[in-house]
Order: sequence, then C-alpha cells, then structure tokens
Amino acid sequence: MHSSIPTFLYGTAWKEDRTPALTELAIRAGFRALDTANQRRHYFEEGVGQGLAAAYRAGLVTRDDLFLQTKFTYQRGQDRRLPYDPNAALSVQVAQSMASSLDHLGTDHVESYILHGPSSNYDWTEDDAEVWEAMRRERDAGRTRLLGVSNVSLLHLQQMAASRAEHPAFVQNRCYARLGWDRNVRQFCREHKIVYQGFSLLTANQEVLRHPLIARIATAAKMTPAQIIFSFARAVGMLPLTGTSNGEHMKQDLASHDIPLPTEAIQTVESIAG
Ligand SMILES: NC(=O)c1ccc[n+]([C@@H]2O[C@H](COP(=O)([O-])OP(=O)(O)OC[C@H]3O[C@@H](n4cnc5c(N)ncnc54)[C@H](OP(=O)(O)O)[C@@H]3O)[C@@H](O)[C@H]2O)c1
Repeated sequence: MHSSIPTFLYGTAWKEDRTPALTELAIRAGFRALDTANQRRHYFEEGVGQGLAAAYRAGLVTRDDLFLQTKFTYQRGQDRRLPYDPNAALSVQVAQSMASSLDHLGTDHVESYILHGPSSNYDWTEDDAEVWEAMRRERDAGRTRLLGVSNVSLLHLQQMAASRAEHPAFVQNRCYARLGWDRNVRQFCREHKIVYQGFSLLTANQEVLRHPLIARIATAAKMTPAQIIFSFARAVGMLPLTGTSNGEHMKQDLASHDIPLPTEAIQTVESIAG
C-alpha cells in the first residue's frame, strides 16, 4: 500500500470518454496521485481504471507507486447511474459503492476514501454519522488506508468533532480566495492535523489569476500565474488538485512544486484574497 501523503492530486472529473487517455497521460507526465469518485454524473471511474491498466501495461508504474482516492456520494448527488441499491441502508450503500470502486479501479484497496459531501449543507447529521461509521469499517477491513470528508463547512467539522467521530485525515474543499482561501476550515485542519485538499484553485479564482500583482510575481519567479497559485497553495499547507486536460499544463502544474515562492510573494497572494 502506498504509504505517504502526495504533494499533488490529479483530478479526473468531467473527462468522460477522454478519462482513460488523460489518466494515462497524467501518469506519464509524473502524477502519482489520482482523485476520482463513484459518481457517474461527473466522473467516469471505470475509465480511470482503464487508464491505470494502460499505464501498468506500458510499464510506467506499478500499483504500489500510486495513491488512489475515490468517494462515496449520496443519492442526492448522483444521476440514475447508481453504484448501490438506493433502497439499502446507508451503511450497505457504502460497502456496495466501495466494492464497485475497487472493481472499476482494478485493485483491492485505495489509499483514501472520501465522503463526497455531508447529507445536509448545514449540519453533520445522523445519516453522516452512519456513513462515516461504515467508511471506518471499510478502512478497518483494509480497503482504504485513510478517510476524508469533502464540501464541508467549519460547522460540519465542529459538529463532527463534537459527536466524537474520528477526525478525518483529509478535508477536500473548493477553495475561494474571497473567503481567505477557506481560511477558517484550513485553520481547523491545521489544529487537528488534517490535510486540506484544495480544488478549483484556478477556476474559482479567476480574478486572482488575472490580478496585476500576480502577473508581477509570476514574471519575477519565471512562473505562470497558474503556477503561482499552486505554489502559494502548497506554501500555506494545502494539497492542491488540478484537473487539466493539457499535457503541457500537467508538467507546469507539477513543476510548480519545485519553485518555492518568497515569503513576501506568499503574503501578497494571501492579501489579494482580502
Ligand atoms: N469534491 C468535490 O466535490 C469536487 C468538486 C470539483 C472538483 N473536484 C476534484 O478536483 C479536480 C480538479 O477540479 P478543478 O475544479 O480544480 O479544476 P478543473 O475543473 O479540472 O479545471 C482546471 C482548469 O484550470 C486550467 N489549468 C490547469 N492548469 C493550468 C495551467 N498550468 N495553466 C493554465 N490553465 C490551467 C484547465 O485548463 P486546461 O485543461 O486547458 O489546462 C482547466 O480549465 C476534479 O477533477 C476533481 O477530481 C472535486
């Protein structure tokens, strides 16, 4: 089992028929950690598995080189293509969804299993507690190494903690610069040793990407504005995701890891957020 925490996640959402080829291309470019979900509406998880199989066949990597992350998605986040029996108990749905994910990905375990979103936008509910318990059982049975939650507010995390639920290893959230880059949730994560995974770092923050101060920092650092955002994300402790479909961007995104930003530049990016 892959035993470390990755430094970059390649996201496989919205790639439909191109999922197998882009998964293989991402591995060729150097990504070793992949994010998917058993939610056919936005992800083609089986296609990720096909891309992995192609990468193994080509001798690019073995299963042990990879960090695979997938998700359990409630019915309200799905279309009609469900990976479980919607009439079964939630704990059974989790087990069925995980079995289907492992089948799609051609493996007997993943590195990380994420609750795609709580059942309510406001509270950590009893349904969430049941699902989280079922996910813990999957972990204890060796089908995932780590557990996480996604699309959560600070209140969700506080309520989860108050219910004495085990802390997640990961929080995966859309990261808006205008919310201080999800400052409150990131602070909770820091205090509880949870790794914060940030997505939509570029798409949700177009105004930052186009900001003249970012252009200036990018020129000085010989980086692109997108690389500045990823480099900033890492500097403030995030594990970033990218879902690029472009081979050059894949390389640039990965390269941002090797170009640290000066402290002053990090503060500037944070201040643009307000
Ligand atoms: N938990 C959840 O609910 C949730 C929700 C959304 C996403 N996710 C995960 O996060 C992953 C990433 O999603 P995302 O919303 O961050 O991004 P995304 O939708 O995949 O979009 C990234 C955008 O940034 C561009 N881009 C990437 N690198 C670039 C570069 N170096 N220079 C210029 N443009 C660049 C891409 O264009 P090109 O393709 O042209 O490079 C693309 O338009 C998803 O695939 C999924 O795995 C999770």
